Amino acid sequence: MKITKAVIPAAGLGTRVLPATKSMPKEMLPIVDKPAIQYIVEEAVRSGITDILIITNRGKGLIEDHFDRVPELEAKLTSGGAQKADILREVVDISHLANFYFVRQKETRGLGHAVSRARSFVGNEPFAVLYGDDVIIGEDPACGQLIRAYEEFGTGVLGVKQVSAEAITKYSSLKVEPIRDNYFKCTDMIEKPTPDKIMSLYSILGRCVLTPDIFDILDHTEPGAGGEIQLTDAMCTMARRSGMVAVDFTGTRYDMGNKLGIMQASCEVALSHPEIGADFRKYIKELAKTL
Ligand code: UTP
Repeated sequence: MKITKAVIPAAGLGTRVLPATKSMPKEMLPIVDKPAIQYIVEEAVRSGITDILIITNRGKGLIEDHFDRVPELEAKLTSGGAQKADILREVVDISHLANFYFVRQKETRGLGHAVSRARSFVGNEPFAVLYGDDVIIGEDPACGQLIRAYEEFGTGVLGVKQVSAEAITKYSSLKVEPIRDNYFKCTDMIEKPTPDKIMSLYSILGRCVLTPDIFDILDHTEPGAGGEIQLTDAMCTMARRSGMVAVDFTGTRYDMGNKLGIMQASCEVALSHPEIGADFRKYIKELAKTL
């Protein structure tokens, strides 16, 4: 079955980026001139996704507004004539990227709980999940790489990369065996492992494709690490039952949930930005001399 639906959980509290996220959703933090979540939506659309459910919560109305039309602004840009035509087109196009749906996660009970809010949107189809604070930039969209693996293997698919032994205790660790190239079979996993529980340095980083049986599994998943209902725990049940495929995807992943990740994303995207790239490069070179 062709995958056309994606879920973007964006209902976290963003406590690692306070105070910026006190009233501003971290998914709306800009990377140069676009909010993080727009990069994620564009990746999904480039992967063939047509319908996107964004899981929000109180105070995240800005996300809905961003994917809506803004008649007053558009009228102003229209009166700006040819000079403003490009930005007008860009502003209008955002609302046409996909069909957008929103649902609120009423209590912040974890990523697994957030994904379980998507049951009626998803119905009986496989779907992609793109974590709202993980921006992945690359030629070949990461979500599409996972969708291709789903089309080949027909099981749930995990987007993975190797991380350092220190970092993995903050992420998840997967038990994997090679299939071919950048494909692995995953039969077990653990969220936020203590050093003695690390299975490999492969960790799930922000993308997966799931089959709808995940919802029944989530309904029976007890709170795990941090007292939250962890998506990793539900996917662990899925992997142990039927196996999943892990794809070591190409592309650079930026963690917009922490301060260093935000700066790395801004810096690297600015360096290749058509409008400011050359000036920013000059600036960075000058700045580097003073470090
Ligand atoms: P994180 O655990 O990184 O987000 O969840 P967080 O809770 O905002 O982080 P901190 O630790 O407080 O800084 C990964 C993704 O899952 C979403 C987040 O919005 C993020 O995109 N999420 C997390 C939810 O939608 N609901 C939740 O209950 C938890």
